[in-house]
Amino acid sequence: MSTAIINPFYAARISRNHRIRRDEPTQPVYARLPMAPRNASPVPHLTSLYHFHRAGEYGDRKWPGNCGGNLIKDLLRYFRPGLVFDPMTGSGTARDVCREIGVPCISFDIHEGFDACDPRQSPAAESFDFIWAHPPYWRQKLYADDPRDLSRSPTLEDFLRRYGQFIRNSARALKPGGKLAILMGDYSDRDAGYVPLVYHTKRLAFAAGLAQHCTDIIRFSHGASSSKKVYRSSFIPGLHDVCMIFEKTR
Ligand SMILES: C[S@@+](CC[C@H](N)C(=O)[O-])C[C@H]1O[C@@H](n2cnc3c(N)ncnc32)[C@H](O)[C@@H]1O
Repeated sequence: MSTAIINPFYAARISRNHRIRRDEPTQPVYARLPMAPRNASPVPHLTSLYHFHRAGEYGDRKWPGNCGGNLIKDLLRYFRPGLVFDPMTGSGTARDVCREIGVPCISFDIHEGFDACDPRQSPAAESFDFIWAHPPYWRQKLYADDPRDLSRSPTLEDFLRRYGQFIRNSARALKPGGKLAILMGDYSDRDAGYVPLVYHTKRLAFAAGLAQHCTDIIRFSHGASSSKKVYRSSFIPGLHDVCMIFEKTR
């Protein structure tokens, strides 16, 4: 039976009189994961619960919003695509993984002037077997000093309009049977309140004609900078984001 660290638990405990105690970090909490059924998967540890706590030597961990490369590597080992595209590459995590395992990959970012939301810059139709996308979670973190950066969208409506165009561009660029993997997370916005970006991603992907290919993958957010913060307010911390895998049906 496997176990996983699920919570670094830097505790800001609220005492009976509702004052926050700035305690020292406690020990991580361990949870027992359900057993996965045996099957013919070439990557048996790839299940709906992804809990690799080491990021791997891919991309740059200091890049805001950097994600570890191991999930990408496992997905590529599972799907065995020909050509990969990463249109929001950030520090190049997916590119580095592809290089290591010998999969051809094209990657761009708004920092290089490529706007993944612009249909005029979209790659030719039916070019890729697999697209990895890790877009901004709206304005949770800000990236380029460029109004075309999704994280600079002034309203949620504006973000969703451009994000929807990005998903349509991706659907067009996939070969039939190709997969679009999007890593996205919900978050609580200072003005807009709780923003269910995972829900919106699915809604927009289905509207673009894509189908969900398999289970969502809940990626435990080990190493998130917020886990070390202390907040005065009370809330239920979100400790994961979600990798959704869509397919362009044949
Ligand atoms: C969550 S980060 C990706 C981090 C990356 N996965 C890594 O590990 O380094 C989101 C990226 O999307 C880029 N981005 C935002 N809007 C974009 C756009 N319209 N077109 C292309 N890239 C965009 C940002 O510059 C940022 O690097």
